[in-house]
Amino acid sequence: MNAAPSAVVRPGQRPQARSPAQTWAQLREVASRRYQSAGPFAWRFAHGKLGLDPVFRHLVQSGLLPAGAHVLDIGCGQGLLASLLRAVTDTAAHQGWPPDWGPPPQGCRVTGIDLSHREIERARQALESRAFASGGTSFDRFVCGDLRTWDFPACEVVVILDVLHYMGRSDQDDVLGRACRALRPGGRLLLRVGDGQARTGFRFGQWVDWLVARVRGYDVSPFHGRTLAEWRQALERQGFEVEPRPMSQGTPFANVLLVARRTHEDAAVPAPSPDKELNR
Ligand SMILES: C[S@@+](CC[C@H](N)C(=O)[O-])C[C@H]1O[C@@H](n2cnc3c(N)ncnc32)[C@H](O)[C@@H]1O
Repeated sequence: MNAAPSAVVRPGQRPQARSPAQTWAQLREVASRRYQSAGPFAWRFAHGKLGLDPVFRHLVQSGLLPAGAHVLDIGCGQGLLASLLRAVTDTAAHQGWPPDWGPPPQGCRVTGIDLSHREIERARQALESRAFASGGTSFDRFVCGDLRTWDFPACEVVVILDVLHYMGRSDQDDVLGRACRALRPGGRLLLRVGDGQARTGFRFGQWVDWLVARVRGYDVSPFHGRTLAEWRQALERQGFEVEPRPMSQGTPFANVLLVARRTHEDAAVPAPSPDKELNR
């Protein structure tokens, strides 16, 4: 890949212009290369998923993630979002940024939780161990645990991508309520779900998730869907204002990203709790 001209960006200064295709190609490359230390499967999966799934590029270019935010990635898998945000901070934002994208989400700190020990190990190998090995500190933390019982720490953004259909409705509602209370004023929840009303795309998505769950050895099965209207209502009941964005361009799925903002800014925000580390 061609190296872009490097220029240090001073605080408050916008990086020089660069094409979207060039920027995205570099981010994808840097974010997936990190997984080489976690094995060829993790690396290939990262490269493939970042190339095929439109949600990751959208999160980087949309301005939905403010610079410096604490991001809680619930059901983080192998920590792909954290790796991408690290790539933004480490490289692309310094080397130029497309003028029609939102501000680069630099300096974000990610706390990820996932039930799968294997996924968390991959995330740690790719993102935690390297920082520690070079004498630095890792901004990102990965916790192996069940999101149904884990205390969510206070944060600016909660991200939940393709996770809630692995649990029943009352657990889904409980997670949405706790996500709302964990958000600091002005914070937002970014929830991606399949629209159960779009039958073919939704069923295909469930089938693919079931297959991936078998291949990757998850202990859970993805079977609890809702229609887009039902997801909206569930979020609004928790005090969110919701904007749906189609999020399966170029794929056969029926996915939607729900951008949910807290409407009650004075809602009680819990004191940041020390994260419970399970199975660490
Ligand atoms: C389809 S993957 C999505 C991974 C990641 N969000 C992404 O988009 O790359 C679903 C993830 O949810 C996790 N998961 C399912 N139920 C969970 C639970 N109760 N607690 C924590 N993680 C859970 C699975 O282990 C899996 O990694």
